[in-house]
Parts: sequence; C-alpha cells; structure tokens
Amino acid sequence: MYKYACLNAISPKGTDQFSDDYQRTEDLQEADAILVRSAKMAEIELSDRTLAVARAGAGVNNIPLEKYAKQGVVVFNTPGANANSVKELVLAGMLNAARNMSQGIRWVLDNESDANISKDMEKAKKAFVGHELFGKKLGVIGLGAIGCMVANAAVELGMDVYGYDPYLSTTAAWNISRQVRNTKNVDEIYENCDFITIHVPLLDSTREMVNADAISKMKEGVVFLNFARDLLVDEDAMLRAVGEGKVFRYVTDFPNQKTAGKEGVIATPHLGASTEEAEENCAKMAVVELTDFLENGNITHS
Ligand code: MLT
Repeated sequence: MYKYACLNAISPKGTDQFSDDYQRTEDLQEADAILVRSAKMAEIELSDRTLAVARAGAGVNNIPLEKYAKQGVVVFNTPGANANSVKELVLAGMLNAARNMSQGIRWVLDNESDANISKDMEKAKKAFVGHELFGKKLGVIGLGAIGCMVANAAVELGMDVYGYDPYLSTTAAWNISRQVRNTKNVDEIYENCDFITIHVPLLDSTREMVNADAISKMKEGVVFLNFARDLLVDEDAMLRAVGEGKVFRYVTDFPNQKTAGKEGVIATPHLGASTEEAEENCAKMAVVELTDFLENGNITHS
C-alpha cells in the first residue's frame, strides 16, 4: 500500500485514477508521494519516506530541485497537460488587448446605470476602436508545448508568426506549423512584431530576459503578453514603457503591487492553467508518472 498526499488544487478526477493500492493521507510525513500545484515546497520539510514529488503543471520553480536531488527525491512535472488552456487564455489576452475589451467592459460597468448610456456609447465606440489580429505579426518566445500551440493557433487566425527557441525539441520541430518563421535571433521578434508572447521556463539564464534593452528594440505600440512567469520580465522597465506608450498593453497573468491600477496593464490572477480540464489532465499525468515510478522504477518528465 502506497500513501500519497495532495497540496492545493489537485483535481480529484485525477487522483481517482490511483488504484486501490494507494491511499490518500493528509499527513505529509507519511506520504510516499506528494502531488503539488503551486505551494512553495522549499518551506516544507519532507520525511525520509517521501520518494517523489509531482508538480501538476509545467513550471518547477516552486520546487527546491537541488535539495531534493541531494535527498534522492524524484521530481516530476506534467509538460503539455495544461497547454491548451494556457493557449486559449493567451489568445483571449491578445484579443482583449487588440479590441480594448477590458477598457470597454470597465466603461459599461461605470456607465450602465446612466439613462444616457446609448448616446454616450457612440463616444465610447470611437474611443475604443481596436485592431484585427489578422495580418499582424506575432512573436512567440519559447516553443515548448504552450508556445507551439499558441503559434499554430495564431497562424490559423491569419497572423504572421515568428518563433524563437534556441533549444527547439524534435517534437516541437515536428508539431509547429510550417508557416511559423523560426528565427535564431530574438531581436528579429523584438524589431518586427506587433504582439509578443513569452513561453520559457524561469531559469537563471531567462530571469528578466525582457529587460530595458529588449524593450527598447520593440516596435512602438507593441502588445507584450506574459503567461509564463513574472520574473521573466523586468517590470520596472516594462511599466515605464507602458507609461510612455512604447508598449500599448502589458498583458500579464502575474499581477502585483507594481502593476496594480496601472493604465495599459491587463492582468489576470494566474488563470492560465485554471480550467477544470487542465487541472484534470495535469493530475492524471502526475498519477501515471508517480505510479510508474513507485511500481516500476520508471522516470518520465523528471
Ligand atoms: C504551470 O507551470 O504549468 C502553471 O503555473 C500551472 C498552474 O497554474 O499551476
């Protein structure tokens, strides 16, 4: 009998997949395996009994990888399992920015009880004239599971898509539309694209890769989307650029005190993978990985 524990937001539809040989425990100290979403694992001491931790999601920056490696705790993640959900929110973010949807919705909320709303609506329509995505240039930085899906969906929308990934995997190379222009130089994206979206993991080498220098190379009025990790972007530089109009919209899934109430920022509370489908897919993949490891010693996505 194996025991597993779940920390925050693990779909029960996934953990239902454990066989009768597995029992859920609320006591972390007696767990052979732990499933986790975004809890900061560095703050939690594991017992000697824990053999594996599965992160139900792609990013593993909430896991102390080096510490676990020393302790012999195997770490799994679930790449791709939530990619479709993130892709859909990125598309929503792009459309929101291009069509001034947040501004329009805010205007309606502020004015809908006004008897003159129909008259004023003409003014609002003029104020919120937007742009089509069709024919615009989109740059996708990072062509993992999410980046590839975003790039392919944007091609379907009629966008002219540039992709950049210095570590392009064979799978990605096969999966990505032939219509995506792969570039070896990220500056080509900064210099040409009307919309830029980032989908890389947070590593020492990618921390604040979108800094003042990168932003200075971008087109005037660019829309920048970050549904990956907050620390990939130097937010002081980004918010300065938003204030100056250089960046038309900063669409981020990582709001904080700096972005609070800033005109030109469209923020959601880390909703990229927050769908029932993504949560279920991630938990199911985590269960498959954990059981294959505990029962057969196989290690996948580690
Ligand atoms: C991820 O890394 O896949 C996301 O952050 C998932 C999540 O929201 O937990």
